[in-house]
Amino acid sequence: MQEVRVELGERSYSILTGTGLLVRSGSLFKERGVKGKILTVTNPTVAQWYLTPLLDSLAEAGYQAETVLIPDGEEYKSLEQAGRIYDKLVDGEYDRKSVLVALGGGVIGDLTGFAAATYMRGIRYIQIPTTLLAQVDSSIGGKTAVNHPKGKNLIGAFYQPNLVISDVGTFRTLPEREFSSGMVEVIKHGMILDPDYFEKLEHEAQAIKARDPEIMAEIVAGSCRIKAAVVQEDERETGRRAILNFGHTIGHALESITGYQRFKHGEAVALGILAALKIALRNKILDDAALYPKAAAMFESLGLPTKLPAGISCEGIMALLYLDKKVEYGKIRWILPKSLGQVLISSKIPPETVKDTLSELGGV
Ligand SMILES: NC(=O)c1ccc[n+]([C@@H]2O[C@H](COP(=O)([O-])OP(=O)(O)OC[C@H]3O[C@@H](n4cnc5c(N)ncnc54)[C@H](O)[C@@H]3O)[C@@H](O)[C@H]2O)c1
Repeated sequence: MQEVRVELGERSYSILTGTGLLVRSGSLFKERGVKGKILTVTNPTVAQWYLTPLLDSLAEAGYQAETVLIPDGEEYKSLEQAGRIYDKLVDGEYDRKSVLVALGGGVIGDLTGFAAATYMRGIRYIQIPTTLLAQVDSSIGGKTAVNHPKGKNLIGAFYQPNLVISDVGTFRTLPEREFSSGMVEVIKHGMILDPDYFEKLEHEAQAIKARDPEIMAEIVAGSCRIKAAVVQEDERETGRRAILNFGHTIGHALESITGYQRFKHGEAVALGILAALKIALRNKILDDAALYPKAAAMFESLGLPTKLPAGISCEGIMALLYLDKKVEYGKIRWILPKSLGQVLISSKIPPETVKDTLSELGGV
């Protein structure tokens, strides 16, 4: 087991990564001084494999725990489902010392974190992420939210968990596209901040594809370290934390133009990363031309897209880009690679460059 600390003063916490951790949750909670009544939030997909082992382990360690099941899907990251969690907490007379446990992917993590941030003005919560994306990204850094019918993550709070337990054994049941989609955030971490980590990903490509637990445990811990370092510097994304949005500007536009149906988030971000590389090369911000084929090869080997699907309109994406929340004063703040492991933020990219890049990637 590896332990990564997120140092945020009185909001500091540990991320525990490794294999076989889920069944040890009860004793890990105890070791870390977790007290109080526990309400676990999960969905039926995750529950079928992981709820009983978790509840058994909590019971063995003497915890009183109940469960609330949320239907599976992004559309249930909603105020209505948060309301169901509050109802269960109120009906069960959960007090301020109670603990919420999020068992699932980013949807369950964001929803549970939001409920924890708001119930009785804030109770403790623990993340037990079960997707790769949740282990390397959404469970770290305290962004919690629910969606509004008019937009994703519009209602939320920065609220840090008290503990994160990431068991890579849960990848065993993860569908292929979910796994590959999570790998995009991993690759992103290497590209923006850590060349050695990126090279390790290239080197271990086969073991990663096979989801080798030992390698995946190292990778999850590595990504947690990288993200934790950024969050420690800029908890509320007033500056540096924005670099984690690398690839997300075009990625979000692609998700939006396809009605959030065509792409998994990571698939759209993979295309966004390739676009950012092309834009940086065109503008001579990046001179290492080998980086593009390296990234494309990594994405291809994971079954991720490297070209836009047929029929995507460059004009349509351009229009959407200017609605993105990262647009300040009418200019897009591009996060672009300078070299492997380094990015810069630029508002000086001519729209024609962006349009040409989209068309080179297959846009019409
Ligand atoms: N808070 C943050 O900083 C942050 C960062 C990135 C993304 N997010 C949010 O995370 C969400 C996406 O998270 P996600 O990609 O984990 O999606 P998800 O939570 O929808 O999980 C994807 C699918 O995998 C299933 N699943 C989960 N674990 C499984 C397992 N071990 N085996 C089999 N199936 C499993 C889920 O039931 C679901 O069907 C979005 O709502 C996004 O906004 C938040």
